[in-house]
Amino acid sequence: MSKITAAITGINAWLPETVLTNADLEKMVDTTDEWIVSRSCVKERRILKGEGKGTSTIGANAVQGLLKKTNTNPDSIELLICATTTPDMQFPATANVICDMVGLKHAWGFDLNAACSGFLYALTTAARMIESGAIRRAIVVGADKMSSIIDYTDRATCIIFGDGGSAVLLEPNSNGLGIQDCIMYSDGSGKAHLHQKAGGSAMPASKETVEQRLHYVYQEGQAVYKFAVSRMADVGYEILTKNGLTSEDIAWLVPHQANKRIIDATARKMGLPDEKVMINIEKYGNTTNGTIPICLWEWEKKLHKGDNIILCAFGGGFTWGAVWVKWAYE
Ligand code: UT7
Repeated sequence: MSKITAAITGINAWLPETVLTNADLEKMVDTTDEWIVSRSCVKERRILKGEGKGTSTIGANAVQGLLKKTNTNPDSIELLICATTTPDMQFPATANVICDMVGLKHAWGFDLNAACSGFLYALTTAARMIESGAIRRAIVVGADKMSSIIDYTDRATCIIFGDGGSAVLLEPNSNGLGIQDCIMYSDGSGKAHLHQKAGGSAMPASKETVEQRLHYVYQEGQAVYKFAVSRMADVGYEILTKNGLTSEDIAWLVPHQANKRIIDATARKMGLPDEKVMINIEKYGNTTNGTIPICLWEWEKKLHKGDNIILCAFGGGFTWGAVWVKWAYE
């Protein structure tokens, strides 16, 4: 019997309509379009507006569109993992909320938090479930409403992040297509440099935590940059060498969109020219769990059956990893 792999057989993203440009941010904090573009490449990002709207709004819209686009019966979905760092609430899981919103009655699921590497962690988890035969059809969502934890008086962080997400359908494949290999890492000592101080069990919300603005993203940009630039490049290179692949074999690199300089360093180490690298950071900023599947969605028409694609991420935790995918459809 041929080996079963898990293949991405459909993808759909959803981005909120409201656009926050660098010109808008110039009016909110002491910054300039020139500084933002030169340091991060971001020109604009999307913001989810509306009372009561959270990450489930992004995820449910992405999943609804995915089911329609792939003509999939909602009853056939057995698992939904939502990779997010900004769940609607501490519990229940946003995955459960999304299932309810889109009518997935036979799926179980959970949220997975690995910051910006969450989508790769979730994709790996769902793929292993399919490969084992435990599950036939799964949906993996990568979505974040980063604007809910960004301090729009902090010029160092508010310029980078945006809201958005995307969902992929995963199904078994017996022709050798789909997810080929996954390498994942974590290092909890990185917590010092990138975290959200309050709102969890270690420091529950209080009047003081709100007054001290402790519910927002805390990032030591330079320290994170140093780790990100080496770890993401190293893991991208590792997945190539481990599998005997050369840059010639690779059709596309799909990097987490945090900073173009980190992306460039990763592509250089892997020997990949700019034309093989997906970059849309200028339009959406860093959507955390959304970046990689949003890229796949934007480039979907350019992907061909059998294309070797490397997905690479680095994020808070620290967490990082790479996934090698053989694209499964035209
Ligand atoms: O997504 C997961 C993980 N996250 C990342 O991978 C992010 C990694 N880090 C980065 O991408 C970069 O560190 C940033 C884009 C966040 C910042 O770029 P940087 O080149 O590291 O800038 P910096 O934080 O070292 O700041 C340089 C200077 C500082 O001024 P002084 O101290 O040199 O006088 C900042 O105060 O730029 C100042 N600055 C700004 N100036 C204008 C910081 N933010 C701004 C701003 N506009 N928005």
